[in-house]
Amino acid sequence: MTAASVVLEMCDVEVSFGTEVILKNVNLKINQGERVSVIGPSGQGKSVLLKTMSGLITPARGKVFIEGRDWKSLRGEDLKHILSKVGMLFQKNALFDSLTCGENIAFPLREVTTTGEEEIQKKVKSFLDAVAIPHALNLFPDEISGGMQKRLGIARALALEPEIIFYDDPTAGLDPITSKKIIELICDWQNKLHSTLIAITNDMNRAYQMSQRILMVVDKEVIEAGTPKTILNNSDPRVHQFIRGELSGPLTALS
Ligand SMILES: Nc1ncnc2c1ncn2[C@@H]1O[C@H](COP(=O)(O)OP(=O)(O)O)[C@@H](O)[C@H]1O
Ligand SMILES: [Mg+2]
Repeated sequence: MTAASVVLEMCDVEVSFGTEVILKNVNLKINQGERVSVIGPSGQGKSVLLKTMSGLITPARGKVFIEGRDWKSLRGEDLKHILSKVGMLFQKNALFDSLTCGENIAFPLREVTTTGEEEIQKKVKSFLDAVAIPHALNLFPDEISGGMQKRLGIARALALEPEIIFYDDPTAGLDPITSKKIIELICDWQNKLHSTLIAITNDMNRAYQMSQRILMVVDKEVIEAGTPKTILNNSDPRVHQFIRGELSGPLTALS
């Protein structure tokens, strides 16, 4: 068997907004096909980390490599090619309110692929089926429930059948049963596509359910918290405090 290949690597990354440093000394590697979750108190930089990994935020220092390519160096067709392999679910779904649910899924296919219209329509229907909201095709996002909007966001993130998929808090604001189902959906698709999955969650049960490795963002740094099996042996008190619900972010940062 060949060694797993690294799909994402961050080297000495520092992210700041103006003079405020949000993340520093970030060094990590994620292998192809891995399922990684990112935990940590609110407002510590989990979303910023995910956006930096996915090329949306350029770090002040250090490098972020996606499939061995520095995000900063990617332009034109090369950039489009990499973007066609990446899917993202944003924390607040970032659905297009003025597009129907079907058009929301078609959007990335139109943006970064040359897929024909007939094929696009087929894909849109199959993804709406896959996330169990076939009736939403011609509805607008605000005409469906919060759980369904999350499913739609996932369908849009999956539309390109991405090799690397980023989920920002896919179960935020959902009830426990819907949350469990959403994670099952995410895991089923990860299995089907053999993709690399990187997901933020504040819910340890969901982190245990979906990931093989857990990272934690705390005090501006990213630490290896462990695997679902080893995390309780971690010697860092912040990991235990977080698991017990004793370590939370400032209230103002809750979103
Ligand atoms: N675009 C931005 N401009 C300025 N500050 C930002 C921006 N995005 C996030 N931040 C700040 O970065 C910090 C981390 O935010 P975020 O990554 O959203 O936290 P988390 O996802 O862990 O709750 C917060 O203090 C937030 O206010
Ligand atoms: Mg966030």
